[in-house]
Amino acid sequence: MRKPVMAANWKMYKTAAETAVFFEKFLPLVAGSGHCEVLICPPYLSVGAAVDAARGTRVQIGAQNMHSKKEGAFTGEISAPMIRAAGCTHVLVGHSERRQLFGATDQGVSDKAVAALDAGLTPVICVGERVEQRQSGETDAVLAAQFRKGIGPLSEEQFGRILIAYESVWAIGTGLVATPEQAADAHRAIRAQALARYGTDAAAGIRILYGGSVKPDNVKGLMAQPEIDGALVGGASLDPFSFASIVNF
Ligand code: 13P
Repeated sequence: MRKPVMAANWKMYKTAAETAVFFEKFLPLVAGSGHCEVLICPPYLSVGAAVDAARGTRVQIGAQNMHSKKEGAFTGEISAPMIRAAGCTHVLVGHSERRQLFGATDQGVSDKAVAALDAGLTPVICVGERVEQRQSGETDAVLAAQFRKGIGPLSEEQFGRILIAYESVWAIGTGLVATPEQAADAHRAIRAQALARYGTDAAAGIRILYGGSVKPDNVKGLMAQPEIDGALVGGASLDPFSFASIVNF
């Protein structure tokens, strides 16, 4: 059985003070949510407030990006050991916004994933196709290439410690959601890659989250797909009541 992971990606929203306010409202709403793991990824400067607020609860905290080196002359960057030391358990790697706006590459994704694992963090490795790739029928090929280059370099043992997020890039922040069937098809394509590279048990065990305009009113249909093992939620995770109702799908 794959335990669902309901994850929030706050992107560049919420100060530390706003983070504390969110948790005050959110925690009581998910106190009984043992059916899933709950993960919140605030901006770096709000990680401390989130870690403090979540201490002693089941809510886990993650960062949204990292550098692949442990330390060094990399102005403006944050390393995996620093993220771990701040109390995070997870880190997003290769989010589509990092790929599109900040030049993240598949090679960089695999370097970061390894560094995250070395630091004791769970990388949430994001893959997904852009709208023109879907329209020209390239979805499976794009996912296969991202898997092969970004995830494939991991060892079997390392693969057993990651999460994958499939985000249909055309559905991010657009209000367009992939239908549960479209999402499940993409998840099956990713799991087929996992099967080919890592074998049956690894493919059956890997948890794949769906991201792209997940809302309280569409989460149930998505989570009804056996292929979908959780959600990575942007906009609808910023409000405590909205994200709690997604967690409690
Ligand atoms: P939205 O839920 O706002 O579409 O964002 C999805 C996303 O990018 C989560 O990482």
